Amino acid sequence: PRYARILGTGSHLPARRVSNEDLAAQLAADGIETSDAWITERTGIKARYFAGPGESTSDLALPAARRALEAAGIEAAQLDLIVVATTTPDMVFPSTACLLQAKLGVAGCAAFDLQAVCSGFLYALSVADAMIRAGQARHALVIGAEVFSRLLDFKDRTTCVLFGDGAGAVVLGASDEPGIRATALHADGAQAEVLCVPGTVHGGSVVGHPVVRMDGQAVFKLAVSALDKVAREVIERAGIPAEQIDWLIPHQANLRIMKGTAKKLGLPEERMVVTVQEHGNTSAASVPLALDEAIRAGQIRRGQNLLLEGVGGGFTWGAALITY
Ligand code: ACO
Repeated sequence: PRYARILGTGSHLPARRVSNEDLAAQLAADGIETSDAWITERTGIKARYFAGPGESTSDLALPAARRALEAAGIEAAQLDLIVVATTTPDMVFPSTACLLQAKLGVAGCAAFDLQAVCSGFLYALSVADAMIRAGQARHALVIGAEVFSRLLDFKDRTTCVLFGDGAGAVVLGASDEPGIRATALHADGAQAEVLCVPGTVHGGSVVGHPVVRMDGQAVFKLAVSALDKVAREVIERAGIPAEQIDWLIPHQANLRIMKGTAKKLGLPEERMVVTVQEHGNTSAASVPLALDEAIRAGQIRRGQNLLLEGVGGGFTWGAALITY
C-alpha cells in the first residue's frame, strides 16, 4: 500500500473542568495572583481539564482509543501497532502503550511509547505512517495522552495556567487511497533549557526539579519560526499548495502563536481548528484532541486536506499534510 489513511479518531477529557476563575481562586489561596483577564489576553485559554488523583495517562487514553476504534470500524484485535506519545507515562516501565494494550484486552501487537513532548503526536504519526508504508503494520493506533498537571508547579503562575490533561487517538490503516501525504520532523537539543522538566527519579529518590520550567518568550519566538518553516516543508513535499489546505490543526499552546502561524502561511483564521480556549495546552494530546473534535463537529469532512503541526520541548517540531 502506498499510504496510511486515517480510518477513525477519538478523544477523551477528564471530568474536572477548571475555568480561569476557578484556577485564580485556587492560586489566591496560596497568595499567588492571576486573573481570567491576564490568561485570556496572553494565551486565549479560558479553561482546562485536570485528571483526578488516581487517574493515569492510560486511563485517559483508553476511552479515546475505544472511540477511535469504533469510528474506524475495527476491533482492537486487528491492531498490529500501538504508539503512545506522552511525557507523563503511568510508570517508568512498562510503557503506557503496553498498559493500554492490556486495558484494550489484546496482546501480541507491537506497543511502545514515544517522547517528544508537545510534538509527540506528530512524531508518533510519522513513525506509524512509515511503518505502515514499509509493510510492518496494517492497522495502527496512534495516541497522544497526558496527565500534564502532574508536572506543574502551582506556585509558578507563569506556567501552571497554561496546561491541561487529555487524550486523543487516531486509527491508521494501510490504503492505496491518499492519506498521509507528507510528514517532517525536527529537533534542536541545544535549546533544551527553554522548556524542560529538569528532574527524574534516581535510586528511589526525586533528583533535580521535576516540574515545568519555561522561558516563555524564547519558546514563543522559536515556535513561530519553526512552525512556519516545517509547514512550508510538508506543503512542498506533498505538492499541495497552501490555498488547497482546508484545515490547519496546530498544537494548541497559545492562541497568539496559532494566529501568527496561520497568518504567515496566508491561511484565513476560519480555517484553523481552535480548542485551546477549552483545553489549555495538553501537550502531545492537543492535536489529536482538536482533530477529533473538529471531525465530530462536522467541520472536517472526508477528502479535505489537513495541515497538522506540533512544537514543544526538546526543542522539537513537526508537521503532517493529510488528505482525510
Ligand atoms: N497571571 C498574571 N500575571 C502573570 C502571569 C499570570 N499567570 N504569568 C506571568 N505574569 C506576569 C509576569 O510576572 C510579568 O510581570 P512583570 O511585567 O511585572 O514582570 C508580566 O505578567 C508579563 O510576563 P511575560 O512573561 O512578559 O508575558 P508574555 O506576554 O511573554 O506572556 C506567555 C507569557 C503567555 C507564557 C508567553 O510568553 C507565551 O505564550 N509563550 C509561549 C509559551 C508556550 O506556549 N508554552 C507552552 C509550552 S511550549 C509549546 O507547547 C510550544
